[in-house]
Amino acid sequence: MNGRDLVRSIKTVSSAGAAQGLRTVRAAWRTRRADATALPSRGAERARVPGSVQEVETAPGGGIIRFSRSELRVMVAVNGAVFWGWDGASPEPSYALAGRCPEPDPRAFLEPDKEGGWRVVAERVTVAVSRHGAVEVRTPGGVTLRRDLPPRWWEPVGGGTARWMQRSEVAADARFFGLGGRGSGPRLRDGTYRMWNTDPGHAFGPGDDPLYITMPVQLVVADAATHLVFRDTSWAGTVTLREGEEGAGSGHDRAGTSELRMEGGPLRCWVVVGTPARVLLVWASLTGAPALPPAWALGHHHARWGFGSEQEVRRIVSGYQERGLPLDAVHLDIDHYDEHQVFTVDHERFPKLPLLAKELRQDGIRLVSIIDPAVKAAEGNTVYDSGMTEDVFVRDAAGRLVRGVVWPGEAVFPDFTHAPVREWWGRLYEERLAQGFSGFWHDMNEPTSFAAFGESTLPRSARHALEGRGGDHREAHNVYALCMARAGYEGLRELAPEERPFVFSRSGWVGMQRYGGTWSGDVATGWPGLRASLSLVLGLGLCGVPYSGPDVGGFDGSPSPELYLRWFQLGAYLPLFRTHASLRAGRREPWEFGAEVLEHARVALVERRRLLPYFVTLAHLARRTGAPYVRPLWWSAPEDRTLRDCEDAFLLGDCLLVAPVLDQGADRRAVQLPRGRWYDTVTEQVYEGPGQVVLDAPLSRIPVLARAGAVVPVRGDDGALELEVWAPAPGRTGGGLVVRDAGDGWDEPELERYVTRWTGQRLVVEREGEGGTGEPRHPVRVRGLGKV
Ligand code: GLC
Repeated sequence: MNGRDLVRSIKTVSSAGAAQGLRTVRAAWRTRRADATALPSRGAERARVPGSVQEVETAPGGGIIRFSRSELRVMVAVNGAVFWGWDGASPEPSYALAGRCPEPDPRAFLEPDKEGGWRVVAERVTVAVSRHGAVEVRTPGGVTLRRDLPPRWWEPVGGGTARWMQRSEVAADARFFGLGGRGSGPRLRDGTYRMWNTDPGHAFGPGDDPLYITMPVQLVVADAATHLVFRDTSWAGTVTLREGEEGAGSGHDRAGTSELRMEGGPLRCWVVVGTPARVLLVWASLTGAPALPPAWALGHHHARWGFGSEQEVRRIVSGYQERGLPLDAVHLDIDHYDEHQVFTVDHERFPKLPLLAKELRQDGIRLVSIIDPAVKAAEGNTVYDSGMTEDVFVRDAAGRLVRGVVWPGEAVFPDFTHAPVREWWGRLYEERLAQGFSGFWHDMNEPTSFAAFGESTLPRSARHALEGRGGDHREAHNVYALCMARAGYEGLRELAPEERPFVFSRSGWVGMQRYGGTWSGDVATGWPGLRASLSLVLGLGLCGVPYSGPDVGGFDGSPSPELYLRWFQLGAYLPLFRTHASLRAGRREPWEFGAEVLEHARVALVERRRLLPYFVTLAHLARRTGAPYVRPLWWSAPEDRTLRDCEDAFLLGDCLLVAPVLDQGADRRAVQLPRGRWYDTVTEQVYEGPGQVVLDAPLSRIPVLARAGAVVPVRGDDGALELEVWAPAPGRTGGGLVVRDAGDGWDEPELERYVTRWTGQRLVVEREGEGGTGEPRHPVRVRGLGKV
């Protein structure tokens, strides 16, 4: 670029910037004005509580309890989940539920209890309702897991949407997890968390809240049992959590509390009680099984905002190939669009995209496209024109189009809460498939609309179809991205029925796993951002969304070689393993950080490829059981309080324990081991849990331990599946599951079950089938024998 070009481009950028700046001022004013005219300002309100019990009516699975000022419907479903809804709220309609609400459990019924209240006794849980409307969830043994105090509503005197508050108590030893993707967890500390999907507008760290995915879902882990509670309302609100305190045997425990304040929506909830594995199983049966990604999506992805041209994409790909580094997908960001317009291509800089896609595919590399929901409001833009013809865009209370501002400038927003709009949008992916894209990266769908002041989203008064019920953005905001994911997923099922859609989305809500996964969003480059990355993946997994991962290296700025490497090493063990960065950020290719980092990153990449069959197995298990690939250390031992507080390591499936390095300069780290024998997967050194050990963590690797007895499906040197078996402790047995899959498509693969045991000095590995045990189907490599 010569001097004159440089000056010209700076001018263009700054004048484009100034124009965009002006648009965001106008958009902010428009939002303010629209909301001021269409939304009632909060006037006089009347507070209400349920009052006292008047009468009850039994119904399948429970019944209805009538109070003087409200009524409560309680139902235990056949899958053991409990539903209750105030003011007669029923489970449907709900954006969270997958399909129909589960059947009531015919064995559960409402009966009077000794305290003058009512209760439903079911196999796994007892729900007790007091005379004034406190609701307690107890274990079958009678231990109280949570107590919801009678709720309180505030109703506008002139009619309109009521706000409400629900205060709950949990055991003094309980820990809170969940609430969607939070940067400061996974254990949620005392504080107030907001429920309103938000683009923080800058690269975020652990202190930023809320982020892109918020969910009114809490997983509460306590000695007596684990339970999940989901308040099924998409309206904005806050949860204030306060962990309890134990009185050290004095009998003066202070309960943990959770106080939920919602700006509207039904007051209804689901509670699931059990072990973490059972809770997630029931949760997946309620809100839907996680979509199965195609196998290539479990490999390594490389992205960047601003590759800028086909040549640059080819240069990056060659960079991987020449160095023998595995690469499975390349992502194209908004810079490949024509002037940032969704479903277009800049033909000058990407003249032969289908050819590029084809050639990359021959080398086993897929192309993934970013998809932004906002459509440039300009006649001649075919998506805009067709959307106008079909009347798909969000309008305000006066029927005018709601215009916001996103990358392409003034833009309009499809109303994904309307089935015909979803179908229209789903058909647009045909253009993407024709360009050769295999996967889709949904972005800016909180939805984000830049604003100079106020919130960077649509006006709260904007109207939405809400499946024909009609309503405004206050109710639709949090489910906007969920509905967009559905549109994309269902469109792809129609357009490419043989393939498993690969969709991952920045924003979302309860149930988003039905359509795909997510990623961290713009996590800040820095050691706190690295920590936040793990928090997000763990927290989302516990809310039922198992597939996610961070921008490896962080979104902005330039990580130090050490930070980049540590992020890369963590990313290699997370479901979505993707390097990505902003337009203005430094490079993220593994060879840009010096020879040493390159060699260590290579080890991580090669190991990820070797573990691919294990990741595929974990994806199938997530779909069948709801269990996330990445689990907190307490997953199988929630009663171990030390593990409950451990946030810097995780289990990858049943077999591996991963202890990433999250601190600058560390070359050793403490690892809290769950019970049992563990092997360092590199040195084969044996460690016995429970307890803390200090492990070497040189720059070359992060500690990864294998559980004794584990059977891990891996890719052997010849590419064929191999079983890596970690010797059980003497006298002990072990085992593992293997799901081998064609990589894509819908054939239901067989689940192979292996067991390991000692007979005398010999270690036996057998496949367990219906007809008894047999030889393993794959070559076996036993490890850890020297150390037994
Ligand atoms: C948003 C996304 C980011 C993307 C950028 C440009 O900031 O979170 O991943 O690169 O937009 O599309």
